[in-house]
Amino acid sequence: MDIEYHTKERIRFKIFDPIKKRFEVPLNIDSPPHPADDPNYAVEFLNNPFFQFRIIRKKTGTILWKSSLGGLIFSNQFLRIKTTVPSSSIYGFGEHEHPSFKHNMNHVRYGMFSRDQAPVEYSNLYGVHPFYMCIENDSNAHGVLLLNSNAQDITLFPYPSIMYQTIGGVLDFYIFLGPTPENVVQQYTEAIGRPFMPPYWSLGFHLSRWGYNNIEVMRKTVERLKQFNIPHDVQYGDIDSMERQLDFTYDKTNFAGLPEFVKALKRDGIRYVIILDPFLTKDELAGTYMPYELGQKMKIWINNSDGATPAVGKAWPPGDSVFPDFTNPLTTEWWIRLCTEFKNVIDYDGIWIDMNEPSNFATGQQPGCVNNNLNNPPYVPDISDGILAEKTLCPDSKTFLGDHYNTHSLFGWSQAKSTFYASQKATRKRPFVLSRSTFVGSGKYAGHWLGDNFSRWKDMRMSIIGMLEFNLFGIPYIGADICGFNENTNYELCLRWMQLGAFYPFSRNHNSIGSTEQDPGVFGEEFAAISRSALLIRYTLLPYLYTLFYHAHSRGSTVVRGLMHEFPSDPHTHGIDKAFLWGPALMITPVLEEGEKIPHSWQKNYVKVPAPLDVIPLFIRGGFILPIQAPARTTEKSHLNPFGLIISLDKKGEAQGSLFWDDGDSIDSIEKGNYFYAEYKFSKGELKTTVMKNSFHGAVAQAYENIQLIGLTSTPNATTVNGNSIPFDRIQMLPNGKIILWISVPLSQELNIVFKLTDNKT
Ligand code: NOJ
Repeated sequence: MDIEYHTKERIRFKIFDPIKKRFEVPLNIDSPPHPADDPNYAVEFLNNPFFQFRIIRKKTGTILWKSSLGGLIFSNQFLRIKTTVPSSSIYGFGEHEHPSFKHNMNHVRYGMFSRDQAPVEYSNLYGVHPFYMCIENDSNAHGVLLLNSNAQDITLFPYPSIMYQTIGGVLDFYIFLGPTPENVVQQYTEAIGRPFMPPYWSLGFHLSRWGYNNIEVMRKTVERLKQFNIPHDVQYGDIDSMERQLDFTYDKTNFAGLPEFVKALKRDGIRYVIILDPFLTKDELAGTYMPYELGQKMKIWINNSDGATPAVGKAWPPGDSVFPDFTNPLTTEWWIRLCTEFKNVIDYDGIWIDMNEPSNFATGQQPGCVNNNLNNPPYVPDISDGILAEKTLCPDSKTFLGDHYNTHSLFGWSQAKSTFYASQKATRKRPFVLSRSTFVGSGKYAGHWLGDNFSRWKDMRMSIIGMLEFNLFGIPYIGADICGFNENTNYELCLRWMQLGAFYPFSRNHNSIGSTEQDPGVFGEEFAAISRSALLIRYTLLPYLYTLFYHAHSRGSTVVRGLMHEFPSDPHTHGIDKAFLWGPALMITPVLEEGEKIPHSWQKNYVKVPAPLDVIPLFIRGGFILPIQAPARTTEKSHLNPFGLIISLDKKGEAQGSLFWDDGDSIDSIEKGNYFYAEYKFSKGELKTTVMKNSFHGAVAQAYENIQLIGLTSTPNATTVNGNSIPFDRIQMLPNGKIILWISVPLSQELNIVFKLTDNKT
């Protein structure tokens, strides 16, 4: 075992074979040359009566890792290790549909092996994330990663303890000491890669479906959103818009005129995202399908066990398909070339990579998998169907980095990385990649949606848990198919889902082929108006959301977080997964039950608030300042609109916040420093702004126009903005005590507001 003291808060221990090199995940986590000084952890070895080791949080003496349960096995195809954990507030592991955010520790087992699997409880789904966070009994938090990509399972026991079983690689553990839940995620993403900075437009509302089937239906759908004035930033084309489901084509019969349609969308400020599948048919007429022929020439396919002949499976396109091996650097060259050339056909803005578990519509490639140790290992972890090759390729297939047995769950991760560069090269703008399969570190390149959910109330509820978990995994750009993918939705479910989905970081209504239409324009006037109003709240708050993404990208913070992130010392918050927060400051408590008009609401004291069908209850936390912007139907328009601040005071009359702003789609505005960043502080009746970075040229033309102050306990008798008194007709005092100021101060200037209070108390 090697132990490395990486930083004060990060320790790695790796149990491996010193003689024979084994597969290791190619994620380069920095291993500093010198051990960290005075770390917050200590390692203890005991040898009585058996060898064991412990990792201890020095400050509190809490034992974070303890191998005393024994049971360590390190054999070629079966590795097992157990540890006790200091509390049963355990979160994470993925990708699964977990029935609760805080795990049930009662002998529950979860398999991990990427799989094309609609979300059903306990199944191993599209991605693999062997990472958990634990909130200790004294409310400190730590995180643990097992960096291993082999098929594996974990079992949670009530002692409380965890058992890992994996069938390859090494036992490469990283522990992150927090001590807050936010610190844990920051330290985790410092190691595995910070989340990508999304383009501003990708924070708008997305509309998609599989099965428009022709351009007329797509056009009509887009048109009715416009007629109802429903925000719409991004339109998708799924595989039905391709020619016979062939990547890098469009159907020139049913989708005749698609390139011009996409251009017209853009004139309306709407972006377009294409879908790409990771299988290329080999059965088109010679000389007619360049993507396959070029790949064949470049020899970039995943091969059979002989390492020379391509693995041939069956997927969407007619005929049989081969699978690009994205662990091979040549494949990235091939992919970039195809994506760049296709940009000349369809002027797309982002790339959606689907089916990249990788999915194959058979058990292994043709002619099936031979019986050997890789295809049929002595132990198969607790995965659906219990067969590694099920719905994918044979484990003994060969990729550039080694056996598919080891690299299977890295397919989506390696493809996301190539696609990130392909999207950037093709669009010359900030990349946008959405990936179905993810692994540790995917958040640096791609966002994710929670897959092929069902149009059911339960699935809507579960989406909150999935969204919270992906924020722990460093993939904050996350959402579920709004209104549900499989099966038909209905009016009330879809409307409540539009309200909840307006607060997914990735807000997309997407539907399956054959299901009834479910876009927010199809249910008539009332539905459209309610969806519009929820989305307008989202658009108003986008500067706050964008700033949260900036903090995710620069510091590794979560965007959406559970209440326990902010209140770990309140054990009531540990089990809450029906409400969630945007950053520290906004709580969303959606209605999740049919016929319910009062959502369950949570606070130090539980409250009930009315929520008729047109309302989604939202709560702003005292002590925070949220930057806002006048909304519009697209971010292309709203991006130019005036700004405002919502200042929500705490009991002491104080609040703080920040704003990140830039042009929204340049590749490296952050790295080049072309942005604006301000911090706001309110205290003793005064708002003070500190502009920390003022290098976004566009900020000069933009202004603050609307300041909302909540929670001032006495009425100000005079108000000044940057030293000038505000005329009374520019101040609005609402009966609930809220004060609204109408001002005009350029964004690039410091904004200082003084509320002169009669009794000098706030
Ligand atoms: C499976 C994806 O999960 C779904 O979103 C998509 O619509 C279909 N593939 C068809 O491309």
